[in-house]
Amino acid sequence: MEKLELLYEGKAKQVYKINRDDAYLVYYKDDATAFDGKKKGTIIGKGVINNLVTNHLMKLLESKGIPTHFIEQVSDRETIVKKVKIIPIEVIVRNIVAGSLSKRTGLPEGTRLNKTVLEYCYKDDALGDPMINEYHILALDLVTKEELDQIADYSFKINEILTDYLKDLNIELIDFKLEFGKTEDGKIILADEISPDTCRFWDSKTGEKLDKDRFRRDLGNVEDAYNEVLRRLMGN
Ligand code: TMP
Ligand code: ASP
Repeated sequence: MEKLELLYEGKAKQVYKINRDDAYLVYYKDDATAFDGKKKGTIIGKGVINNLVTNHLMKLLESKGIPTHFIEQVSDRETIVKKVKIIPIEVIVRNIVAGSLSKRTGLPEGTRLNKTVLEYCYKDDALGDPMINEYHILALDLVTKEELDQIADYSFKINEILTDYLKDLNIELIDFKLEFGKTEDGKIILADEISPDTCRFWDSKTGEKLDKDRFRRDLGNVEDAYNEVLRRLMGN
């Protein structure tokens, strides 16, 4: 599939116009950033792994009734996705305390939450993706109340599906970030990626971190961790 025009370049991916009106091509890079882009680096092979991991999980979610933007993987780093307008809300789903929730609450990382927590961030790099609540979202007209309820409903369902699936692979799903998009006919579907960049994955037996926290916190063996997630998902 020929890439016609670079439409958008983010920190980890590029989006290209292609020769069809209903779809884009996403290209996954090895670039890694953290802390609003202040920390920069490369995770060799990350683009390939995140492309394969995302597509594997999107296919799983589709099979369980979650509409996603996935159409077809066309190479190691490239996937055709449905054209959507990305809703500028990052949805964070948390099962176990880690990262910024540990900082905000003082609860130690690893504390199990007795109820799944949903958080919203306003997707705006210049503002540093600040946390917002449902009132802000409706006041800013980012989506309607019905759309937000739909997004929350999908997010909880996605959490259940992924948690169950990963448990069998000895991966504990600590937390993750989702983005949704709107199609031309107004449907809300899951977009962006689901990968070790956007999820916290801990080995169920050892507690070892198998995600981007290895890069954020300079823990070493970053590539090994990403490869391990892919290996477990692909069943070899
Ligand atoms: P946090 O604990 O730093 O708020 O992160 C929560 C989850 O969201 C974690 O799985 C990592 C993911 N995440 C992103 O995908 N992109 C981001 O920009 C940030 C800050 C977190
Ligand atoms: N990718 C994000 C950034 O550079 C943050 C993160 O994933 O930690 O801001």
